Amino acid sequence: MTEQVAVITGGNAGIGKETAVALARAGWRVFITARDPGRGTAALEDIRARSASERTAVIPLDLADLASVRAFPALLAAQTDQLDVLVNNAGLVLQDRRVTSDGFEQTFGVNHLGHFLLTDLLLDRLRANPNGSRVVVVSSHAHKMARRGLDFDDLQTEHRRYRGFAAYSRSKLANILFTRELARRLDGSNITVNALHPGFVDSRFGRDGDTRRWFEVAYRVGSVMAITPEAGAQTSVYLASSPDVDGITGEYFYKGRPAKVSSAALDNVAATRLWAASEILVGI
Ligand SMILES: NC(=O)c1ccc[n+]([C@@H]2O[C@H](COP(=O)([O-])OP(=O)(O)OC[C@H]3O[C@@H](n4cnc5c(N)ncnc54)[C@H](OP(=O)(O)O)[C@@H]3O)[C@@H](O)[C@H]2O)c1
Repeated sequence: MTEQVAVITGGNAGIGKETAVALARAGWRVFITARDPGRGTAALEDIRARSASERTAVIPLDLADLASVRAFPALLAAQTDQLDVLVNNAGLVLQDRRVTSDGFEQTFGVNHLGHFLLTDLLLDRLRANPNGSRVVVVSSHAHKMARRGLDFDDLQTEHRRYRGFAAYSRSKLANILFTRELARRLDGSNITVNALHPGFVDSRFGRDGDTRRWFEVAYRVGSVMAITPEAGAQTSVYLASSPDVDGITGEYFYKGRPAKVSSAALDNVAATRLWAASEILVGI
């Protein structure tokens, strides 16, 4: 069997790093991305040691900076022209409103817009794969908290009071709307697109000073019920590599099975509208 190639955004920590370890162990060539070179190198050493594979590398990527996203395809092309799976994994939650280099609210900018542009820039390469390719989107059951759907008059949460978890929930809803719309647009192609909830995972999520102390404490207390990042990576690994999901597209998975999404996530008009708005925002 020929070697398979994966790109995992945010593969330097948590669920993304464990996805990288599992795929590298299975013989894949794995490119993780990291916004911080030191964290990227440290993660790479760990992934190589634990997978006993040298076929891993780190490529710089800051999803909060569209110039960095635009630079990514050339950096990848310098190492390989093959791409079998893109795992859009990186994500964050913030307590206070911050903006990306391009002026987008950061949760929406990183969790959705950065990945939207990255996927667009890598589509030709995914399409060119004669064996078929996959896009895997790490969303969350938190999307269900965005009951009213997206507010297209305020996608950047500029006008309403900023509540970090509400902004996060909307960004995770955007992940599913993006997944379903991309799957629709790629219908009949050799690319499948699926989203997932990894479970409640004891990672560094929300901890690095991104959220206020109460969130950190609540997360730490709750983390006794959380699963390990390794267990949290299982559905990502399944969607990236299992033959069981050959040809399945536009779905949402949890624990390796299709799962229900909210009614807001099934809103096809919102999905098309988000796509159009995102194209304008990232300048496609
Ligand atoms: N943990 C959970 O319980 C849970 C539940 C549902 C869904 N999820 C989702 O799972 C995914 C992974 O989260 P995790 O739990 O593994 O959290 P994590 O340990 O905090 O890892 C998040 C990753 O995203 C990267 N990242 C953050 N901002 C970035 C940016 N501007 N550009 C590029 N990369 C960036 C981080 O890089 P740095 O190391 O540089 O910060 C890190 O590699 C996220 O999409 C999250 O929404 C997590």
